[in-house]
Amino acid sequence: MLDSVSALPNASEVPRHIAIVMDGNGRWAKSRFKPRFLGHKQGVDTLVNTVLACADRGVEYLTVFAFSSENWKRPNDEVSGLMSLVLLAVSKYLGVMNKNGVRVRIVGDRTDIAAHVKEAWDHAESGTQHNTRITLSVAFNYGGRWDVVQACQRAIRAGISADDLDEATLSRFMALSHAPDPDLFIRTGGEVRISNFLLWQTAYSELCFSDCLWPEFGEAELDAALAEYARRDRRFGAIKEPQAVELPLVR
Ligand code: FPP
Repeated sequence: MLDSVSALPNASEVPRHIAIVMDGNGRWAKSRFKPRFLGHKQGVDTLVNTVLACADRGVEYLTVFAFSSENWKRPNDEVSGLMSLVLLAVSKYLGVMNKNGVRVRIVGDRTDIAAHVKEAWDHAESGTQHNTRITLSVAFNYGGRWDVVQACQRAIRAGISADDLDEATLSRFMALSHAPDPDLFIRTGGEVRISNFLLWQTAYSELCFSDCLWPEFGEAELDAALAEYARRDRRFGAIKEPQAVELPLVR
């Protein structure tokens, strides 16, 4: 779990890409005797504040889990509440995104999404496509396993042969092909799991888990995660110091 912030990281230690599982909206609402929808609504405001705070700190990509492939199992009124939030969020915040140089991308399976929700997402994407300060990717009807399967399907349809299919090639077909892999993965709400988020892309992400409920996630919590990230020693499976003696590779 995260400590409170002690020192802010310097620019070279700022992650290029942060991925967030925004968990805890329901508990936040319940603790205030409010319907769960109001937790999600507050969560949209937190998301907007977070993307602006990330941009201020030099983060180039923020990817958030807004609606998972599994969230259809929730009660109908919560699902339709989350869908209606898309329209509300786009109409309320598109101007703020543009004013602050935020490019919005939607990643996920669009096949089962209602036409008016898809139109709102298309409007957000096309209306912000020339912004360059930070890219906000909203994972909506997204699942990490879905992403791997759809990437394989698209690679096969593009005529990539089994012999030509390697990690770099498959990455080109993944839903987040417009972004580098996340350096830092944050989950709020106290649960310590990935929940089918970016399974392929988080292979070497640094994982941070916070007890903070998403609607209460603010700059102090973001800075605590950035400070924790700056303390991590990233080796990507290698070792840091070169070996004094090069031994022959034994397979
Ligand atoms: C998990 O909290 C959160 C979600 C399933 C939805 C997250 C969505 C938002 C923050 C809104 C973003 C929406 C748009 C349109 C950009 P939970 O409901 O599982 O919380 P709990 O664990 O406390 O019940």
